Amino acid sequence: MSTFPVTRLRRLRRTGALRAFARETHLDLDQFVMPLFAGPDTKANAELPALGRFSVDDLVRETESLVAAGVTAVILFGIPPEKDEVASGAYDDDGIVQQALRALRPRFPELVLMTDVCLCEYTSHGHCGVLKEGAAGSLHGDEVDNDETLDLLARTAVSHVEAGADVVAPSDMMDGRVGAIRDALPHTPIVAYSAKYASAFYGPFREAAESAPAFGDRRGYQMDPANVREALRECEQDVAEGADVLMVKPALPYLDVIRAVRERFDVPLAAYNVSGEYAMVKAAARGGWMDERAAALESLTAIRRAGADIVISYWTKELASWL
Ligand code: PBG
Repeated sequence: MSTFPVTRLRRLRRTGALRAFARETHLDLDQFVMPLFAGPDTKANAELPALGRFSVDDLVRETESLVAAGVTAVILFGIPPEKDEVASGAYDDDGIVQQALRALRPRFPELVLMTDVCLCEYTSHGHCGVLKEGAAGSLHGDEVDNDETLDLLARTAVSHVEAGADVVAPSDMMDGRVGAIRDALPHTPIVAYSAKYASAFYGPFREAAESAPAFGDRRGYQMDPANVREALRECEQDVAEGADVLMVKPALPYLDVIRAVRERFDVPLAAYNVSGEYAMVKAAARGGWMDERAAALESLTAIRRAGADIVISYWTKELASWL
């Protein structure tokens, strides 16, 4: 039975101040993480500005402007000058991310410096781990050797922390990687890309990071988009192995997964508003079909409303000026 006309939900929508007073979800810059790409040279991306890459010197300048705008956390990705079969550039003490960290750490002591820990940007074949003997050419990434990869991921994480990272974020989706990193780094916060799906929405990132697989795809290790119970099992494993923060990725097509993880686990939850989500809005705005700022703010609010505490987003820099 309707309680109208006594109940009139529009009463709290009449003015901006009333809407703010009744608002359930807020965006605060402290909860946002800006992705940054370090490479051997600077290469702007005209259409997707947040996917451009920076030389170490330019990265320092970019970080200066982010910090001045109020950004409190960044996640670093590396585009190495050379790639090989075993991703040497990922755990090289003088690798691109390690150089970036050594430049940033002393200059920004308060900034949360997080690093993506994965091998795909560093392998010549573009997969997130090392391949089994004679496996190149098969179809679904099940040729990636799980247990052989764990040691290299742990080495990568250790070298990031030695160079100044505060937080490491393994994104490779090998089984047991959180435990392997936890054994090597008992005091470092781990943000686990726990429910990371084999998604078409990573396209623009792979182009920017030059990390598309040379053959096959990532379905042998990243999750099937059709599954949500399995996401909870991934999260359960990661918490048991010592993860401090869980992550769901992508964000917008997986809001139900964010909600399910939020309800089951009490650890902080992150969501990655990925490159394809950013690119869709950018493209629509360029076509004159949507207002970028309004669509971005609505997207980010939806991700927070679904239950994410922390959001990694390419809009973080612009968000600083919008808030
Ligand atoms: C590395 C990694 C990827 C992304 C984050 N870490 C690419 C992938 O898994 O193919 C994607 C981020 C984005 O699309 O914004 N494994």
